[in-house]
Amino acid sequence: MTIQFSTKIFPQADLNSVKALTSSLKSLLAHGSDCLVLAYSKADIDSFGGPKAVKRKAGFLAELDQLLGGSVSHANLLGDLDDKQSSVCILRADKSWAASGVKAKRVLLLGLGDASEHNLTSFSKVVRAGLKALSGGPIENALWFVPSFAQKTELIAEEVRLTIQYAGDQAYRFGVRQPTMKFKAKDKADTFKHLVFAGNNTCAKELKAAVEQGVAMAEGMHLAKDLGNLPPNICTPTYLAKTAQGLSKKVGLKVEVLGRKQIEALGMGSFLSVAQGSETPPQFIVIRHQGGKAGDAPIVLVGKGITFDTGGISLKPGEAMDEMKYDMCGAASVIGTLYAAGLMKLNQNVIGVIPTCENMPSGKATRPGDIVKSMSGQTIEVLNTDAEGRLILCDALTYVERFKPKAVIDIATLTGACVIALGHVHSGLFSEDEDLVRALTKAGKASLDTVWRLPLDAAYHEQLKSNFADVANIGGRPAGSVTAACFLSRFTEKYKWAHLDIAGTAWKSGAAKGSTGRPVPLLVNFLLEQK
Ligand code: BES
Ligand code: MN
Ligand code: ZN
Repeated sequence: MTIQFSTKIFPQADLNSVKALTSSLKSLLAHGSDCLVLAYSKADIDSFGGPKAVKRKAGFLAELDQLLGGSVSHANLLGDLDDKQSSVCILRADKSWAASGVKAKRVLLLGLGDASEHNLTSFSKVVRAGLKALSGGPIENALWFVPSFAQKTELIAEEVRLTIQYAGDQAYRFGVRQPTMKFKAKDKADTFKHLVFAGNNTCAKELKAAVEQGVAMAEGMHLAKDLGNLPPNICTPTYLAKTAQGLSKKVGLKVEVLGRKQIEALGMGSFLSVAQGSETPPQFIVIRHQGGKAGDAPIVLVGKGITFDTGGISLKPGEAMDEMKYDMCGAASVIGTLYAAGLMKLNQNVIGVIPTCENMPSGKATRPGDIVKSMSGQTIEVLNTDAEGRLILCDALTYVERFKPKAVIDIATLTGACVIALGHVHSGLFSEDEDLVRALTKAGKASLDTVWRLPLDAAYHEQLKSNFADVANIGGRPAGSVTAACFLSRFTEKYKWAHLDIAGTAWKSGAAKGSTGRPVPLLVNFLLEQK
């Protein structure tokens, strides 16, 4: 990644302790950073005397003012400090700072607003405002005093991971991992390079762990974004396989890649029916992270890896078809999550499974009306070759039975209908398992990578009836995301299962076109909460 994260412990630093206040601030200010970042609440401003107050009274801002030769009250007098959420005020060093032993070149004060309105979403807005103020200018490093943001120690891990998630997001530049391929002649990296999380004795342990987890997650997101953004002539099934194999050396994941012959031998007739129209060979990738005991049942993640979806013979319209390079974002999120699991040495067994191929029209391509036999033995009437995601996933879902999984989650850019239903806010969640629904919903909220549950009732299965095979691959326009999920559910009877439709959340269109790295944060948070 282009940005570094680390921790530094100032054992006694605690802005809430009246006794230790002066020495806390002194120790933080004495650290030679380009910018010390402190958050303050509306209550801090009130005890300072309120916005634009002439007189300063008490609290940490008053103490800071003392040490900074009146810089805080000066800013307040000008109206630069206020009690609103996400307000940003940068104080710059002058001669008086050095006189009190201050080595920080700047102090960034970030407004948390009214404590009664604090939640993770408002926190994320404050963080983003802070990160924006740090980036794009001469500031190269910052000392971010975590306890000033977190009101409770229990929230530190969640908040620090989220801060790293956003900092990584902001620092992301496409193609950094492919230095030999200069995709863009001019694409300047941010000058901001190093974020140091400062803590104290009370939170040292949580902080260190959270930074490690956050960094691993941000790395995983970064990789997932790059894979998504890479053009489809480079990010082919073979490229995905090579990327996974590269991680095996880096973080000790065990990677196995099956080619066409082996896929045939497994009887994956449904998967192969999608691959058959393309000159590019399909791959079936299995990535293992063995962090738990040998006998522990694994969590299995299955990712849709269509490296380009033309629709096949049921060809898509030309407009924005380039965006169908993102049809492997499920696969990218699985690779990214396993990379993160490896980096953070997650103490569980996780297996990532990726069926990957292109969906192309050709003289050899599957026709609408063709009947294919899946690995499960069920026959499928392919009424629309553009409903190919479910055709490759169903065989992967049968394959994973052999792992006797604790749970299986598949992740797929499966339906345009999901974008219509949920837009670009929540990923669609489908599951009959209440525990999985609860855990995934919670993990989504904790990482602001949210999901919304949609139904899977038996009634929708009616739409998948075929006159000629066990099941049809489409269920018509009504509830298109639900019938797609219902199709998958027919292959998941042997284990606990959830399906995430990320068609609306995996990438952005328009001027900000690009992969989002979602749902890596959700999946990493989910895995961290599993025991
Ligand atoms: N990859 C697409 C789904 C998609 C479409 C994701 C647009 C994001 C934006 C998928 O393979 C597909 O083509 N689905 C069809 C299914 C239909 C033929 C039943 C769709 O959504 O139109
Ligand atoms: Mn399609
Ligand atoms: Zn597709």
